[in-house]
Amino acid sequence: MKRVLSGMRPTGPLHIGHLLGALGNWIGLQDQYECFYFVADWHALSTMYDEPESIEEFTIEIVMDWLSVGLDPERSTLFLQSAILEHAELFVLLSMITPLSWLERVPSYKEVRQQMAHKELGTLGFLGYPLLQTADIIIYRANFVPVGMDQLPHLELSREVVRRFNSMYGSEGSDPVFPEPMHLLTEAPKVPGTDGRKMSKSYNNAIYLKDPSDEVWEKLRPMVTDPARIKRTDPGDPDKCPVFELHVFFTPEERREEAARGCRIAGIGCIDCKKILFEEMEKTLSPIRERRNKLAKHPDKVRQILSDGNKKAQTESARTMKDVRRAIRLYQ
Ligand code: TRP
Ligand code: SF4
Repeated sequence: MKRVLSGMRPTGPLHIGHLLGALGNWIGLQDQYECFYFVADWHALSTMYDEPESIEEFTIEIVMDWLSVGLDPERSTLFLQSAILEHAELFVLLSMITPLSWLERVPSYKEVRQQMAHKELGTLGFLGYPLLQTADIIIYRANFVPVGMDQLPHLELSREVVRRFNSMYGSEGSDPVFPEPMHLLTEAPKVPGTDGRKMSKSYNNAIYLKDPSDEVWEKLRPMVTDPARIKRTDPGDPDKCPVFELHVFFTPEERREEAARGCRIAGIGCIDCKKILFEEMEKTLSPIRERRNKLAKHPDKVRQILSDGNKKAQTESARTMKDVRRAIRLYQ
């Protein structure tokens, strides 16, 4: 079986945007690949170095989210980056052969620094982010890495580093030390938040997997709709309404079309329409929430799953590092 690996930074609890994007994709990949999924807590530190407590909190939250949506520790190795020190060793060794210019030209380097101008990101750790990511991937000799568009330049860098490593330290006639990792592009559907902008923790418009049912409704009730529908008697256009965009993900076609007709002729009010959405969303969210509530009562179980995954990841990465040290002729 080919191997898949991906990571998520623990920067907040997961919301339905994650479920409909990356996370849903990860779940499906479990059927076809040997999967490694990890919490990238070192990567979170690259920007959140001054709030380690939230990284600690979100690490366990994220793993609970993963388990409750159906990442299956029987099939996938779920682990914590900072538990596997070999990632750091490989990062150091790769740093010897990686020109600074390769890292400086990765687009996210300048972009994120501009977006987060208030924060000191002129650090070695932040510049080295994609190289650490490279170590994360190749230490498991992963063939495929499911990521969004924004991560493609990182994967490009990973392949460049692998080629340089293999040509510098590989020996003639034998297999390369590392395979070149390929991306599996995750289609990221646009999932609107309650204010109509892209759902994101930083916009404060997200519906979280862990939100209790009444909170989901409290968020949907005042959600932005087609601005033309001011009064109940004003007809609306579902194509201009973020609530309807959510219907597309959750409501079966027939019921959705009925709501759309009602909207166009002002036959239903927005609250009616949102009630339908809420009902349909709950069909997906309530089983997830139930599993999550159970897990939240047994955090030690969650920690055990993580530590079992860490052991597997440790064995794999230790094996790779033996080959790496031998390839670099490190005396041992
Ligand atoms: N950079 C990724 C993100 O922000 C997270 C990540 C860290 C990752 N290491 C990785 C993803 C290795 C895939 C493979 O989403
Ligand atoms: Fe949006 Fe539904 Fe209101 Fe129409 S009825 S504007 S689709 S919330």
